[in-house]
Amino acid sequence: MTNNDHIIQVQNLTKSYGSNNVLNGINFNVARGTMLALLGPNGAGKTTTVRILSTLLSFDAGSVSVEGHDVGTEADKVRAVIGLTGQSAAVDELLTGRENLVMMGRLYRLTKNSATARAQELLEEFDLVKAADRPAKTYSGGMRRRLDLAVSLIATPPVIFLDEPTTGLDPRSRLAMWVIIKRLMANGTTILLTTQYLEEADQLADQIIVIDGGKVIAEGTAEELKSKIGKDRLELTFESPEVLKAATKALGTDIIDTNPKAHSATIVINETNVDIKKVLDILSGENIELISMAVHKPTLDDVFLSLTGKQKSTMKAEGK
Ligand SMILES: Nc1ncnc2c1ncn2[C@@H]1O[C@H](COP(=O)(O)OP(=O)(O)OP(=O)(O)O)[C@@H](O)[C@H]1O
Ligand SMILES: [Mg+2]
Repeated sequence: MTNNDHIIQVQNLTKSYGSNNVLNGINFNVARGTMLALLGPNGAGKTTTVRILSTLLSFDAGSVSVEGHDVGTEADKVRAVIGLTGQSAAVDELLTGRENLVMMGRLYRLTKNSATARAQELLEEFDLVKAADRPAKTYSGGMRRRLDLAVSLIATPPVIFLDEPTTGLDPRSRLAMWVIIKRLMANGTTILLTTQYLEEADQLADQIIVIDGGKVIAEGTAEELKSKIGKDRLELTFESPEVLKAATKALGTDIIDTNPKAHSATIVINETNVDIKKVLDILSGENIELISMAVHKPTLDDVFLSLTGKQKSTMKAEGK
């Protein structure tokens, strides 16, 4: 599907490095003013995709356009509407934060005065005023990411590519980065974000595509993806292994998993209220006492796992 509201259009994108077919016909569109998260494990081709879209890398086949400009033949026009930040950082280590910003402003053909003024604005916005006049090589990881993002915003482009903007950040810096990203979204910026943090895609993105093995293996909103693998699970905890055993017997095949150490059992539920009542009725009918019970909604971790069969350890899953 193609239409003018799709500011980024990628059709049948194909790219190999020698015999390594990294992208095997990728398709996606990004609607104006929205965020698409590109999710995938290490080596899935996220950075490759972003580098192609931002004109830094050639591709073998397919068509890619940004704001109606063909990435292959109108690279200059594409560059004029995008900002890029990420794993291939554009920050010069030897220059100070301020100098990096002013330099980039000059590259974007701002006058010296406007570049200086814009640099000051961004230093304030990204909480880098105190560190502004120190060389970037003395910055912490979080400060560097903020500087990297600030540099990409010198010219406030309508489209911005964020390649793993929060990888390696501590939880506090990650939250701060999310605030900054949300502010960009509120300003109507169209964003393509790559991430290995499922939680991040869940929090920020309007749409998610999951790539693996050079293909898009799933797409939708976080809710849609979760509902695909879908069912809620009910976790029941009992006082002792003996009680767990009795409960297991009473509930029979409804149980999909037990954890003898924690004296707990898990049941898949379809209709939350009805099924919980059914379980409670069975247990009280057998005089089995319940210590606690919790409903777990599927997470994007579960989705990823069921889609790729990959262990979570290959993803930097967080929050658990
Ligand atoms: N310049 C290159 N030459 C050869 N192979 C490359 C090159 N750049 C990337 N690759 C290969 O392409 C594949 C995709 O790499 P890419 O960097 O796009 O993955 P990624 O999804 O960004 O991974 P990560 O999560 O680790 O950043 C990998 O197999 C990688 O080894
Ligand atoms: Mg990458």
